[in-house]
Amino acid sequence: MKPMKIAEGIYQLSVNVEDILFEGLWEIPKGVSLNSYIIKGEKTAIVDGVCGWDGVPESLYALLEQMNITPESIEYLIVNHMEPDHSGWIESFRKINPDFKVVGSKKAKMLLDAFYGKDDNFICVGEGDTLDLGKGHILNFIDIPNVHWPDTIGTFDTLTGTLFSCDAFGSFGKIIDDRIYVDELSKEEQITYEQETIRYFSNVLAAFSLQAKKATAKCSELPVKLVAPGHGLIWRNPEEVFKAYSEYADCSKGPAREEITLIWGSMYGMTRKAVEHAVKVLEEEDIVVHVHEVPKDSWGTVLTSAWTSTGIILAMPTYEFKMFPPMGAVLEELGKKKVYNRKAFRFGSYGWSGGAQKELDEILTRLNMNWDFIEPVEFLGSPLEEDLEKIRIGVKELVKQVKDKILTEKHIG
Ligand SMILES: Cc1cc2nc3c(=O)[nH]c(=O)nc-3n(C[C@H](O)[C@H](O)[C@H](O)COP(=O)(O)O)c2cc1C
Ligand SMILES: [Fe+2]
Ligand SMILES: [Fe+2]
Repeated sequence: MKPMKIAEGIYQLSVNVEDILFEGLWEIPKGVSLNSYIIKGEKTAIVDGVCGWDGVPESLYALLEQMNITPESIEYLIVNHMEPDHSGWIESFRKINPDFKVVGSKKAKMLLDAFYGKDDNFICVGEGDTLDLGKGHILNFIDIPNVHWPDTIGTFDTLTGTLFSCDAFGSFGKIIDDRIYVDELSKEEQITYEQETIRYFSNVLAAFSLQAKKATAKCSELPVKLVAPGHGLIWRNPEEVFKAYSEYADCSKGPAREEITLIWGSMYGMTRKAVEHAVKVLEEEDIVVHVHEVPKDSWGTVLTSAWTSTGIILAMPTYEFKMFPPMGAVLEELGKKKVYNRKAFRFGSYGWSGGAQKELDEILTRLNMNWDFIEPVEFLGSPLEEDLEKIRIGVKELVKQVKDKILTEKHIG
C-alpha cells in the first residue's frame, strides 16, 4: 500500500493484516487494515501507528520513506489509545528518534511506561486541550474513554475537519486497490463491509456500548468532514457512521433488528433433526435468519449475528447434566458482551434425566442477560412428530414476539 493524501497536509499510511486472530481471539475472515496518519504542519505529527501484528514497524518505515519523511523529523506521536495494535512500534521508534514526544491521555502515560519503559518525553492531553502544528493545523483533543480502553481519546484537526478516532468508528475489512473510502465501494461491497463493521463492533467494542454511544453523540457535535479511524476505511460522510454506530450500540439492550439467530450443536444428530425442521419453519416466515453450528462456527461469528438479532433460538442436547459445552461457552460470551433483553426459545435432546435448563438459567442470571424465553421443548432421543409440532409453534411464536417487541419498544424508545 502507498501513502494516501486525504486532506491538506494529511496522509494515511495503512497496512493490511490477515491470517491472525484479532486480540488473539477473534477470526477476521476479511482481514483488517491498521491505519496511521501523518499531519504535516510546520511540525510533523503521526497519529497512532501501524506495524505488523508482531510489533515490527518495518512496513511503517517503508511508507514513511515513500513520503520522504525520516522518523527523526517526526516531532509528535499522538497515541489515541495505547493498545499495542496502535502503539506496538513505539519501542523501535524510540531507538531511532529518542527526542520525539508522545502525546496521549493521563491513562495512556501509565500504560506507556508499563508497556515500553518509563519516558518523560510525554505531553498529557485531555478534553479541550489543543496542539498547534503550524500551517493552520490546530489539533483539538476529546475524551472518549473506553472506546475501547480507558485511555482512549480522539484527535480532531480543526483545519480540515478530520477526526482521528482510533478504535471508534473502526471496522474489520482491509483496503483493496487503494480504495480507502467507504463511498468508493460498490453497493454489494458496502453490504459486506457493514457486516465487517458489525463483526468489529460486536467482537471488540460491544462490552463498551454505552461509552460508544456517548462518544458518538459527542463526536456528532463537532464539525467533522472526515472520520479517519485506526481500523478499516475512511468515512467522507460522517453522519452515516455516526448513525450506524449509534444503532450498533443500541443493539446491546435491544430490541435490535428484525432478525433471529439460531445457534445449535448436536453430537449424534438427534437435536440436528429438530434444527432442520426449525430452519424450514423459519424459511416460511418473513424474517432474516442466521444459523450457526457450535463449536464449528467461531464465537466471533455467532456474536456478530446475535448482536443484530432481536430473537435467539438455542438448540442443543444435554451433556453430563449440563448443556452441550460449546453452547455454554458461547452463551457466556454473549452475556459478557452484553447481548441483553432478547426474545428466546430453546429446544434439544436428552438421554438420561436432562439438565441443560439449570445451567442455562444460571448463566442468564449471573450475567444479567434478561432473556425472555418461550416454554422450551425437550425430547428423549430423536424428536417425535409431536415434538416437532411443539417446535413449529415455538418458532412461530418467537417470530411474532420479535416483531411485536420491535414495534412496541422501538416506538417507545
Ligand atoms: C458425553 C455425553 C454426556 C451426556 N450427558 C447427558 C446428561 O447429563 N443428561 C442427559 O439427559 N443426557 C445426557 N447425554 C445423552 C444425550 O443428551 C442424548 O444422547 C441426546 O440424544 C444427544 O443428542 P444429540 O444427538 O443432538 O447430540 C449425554 C451423552 C453424551 C455422549
Ligand atoms: Fe483497541
Ligand atoms: Fe485498535
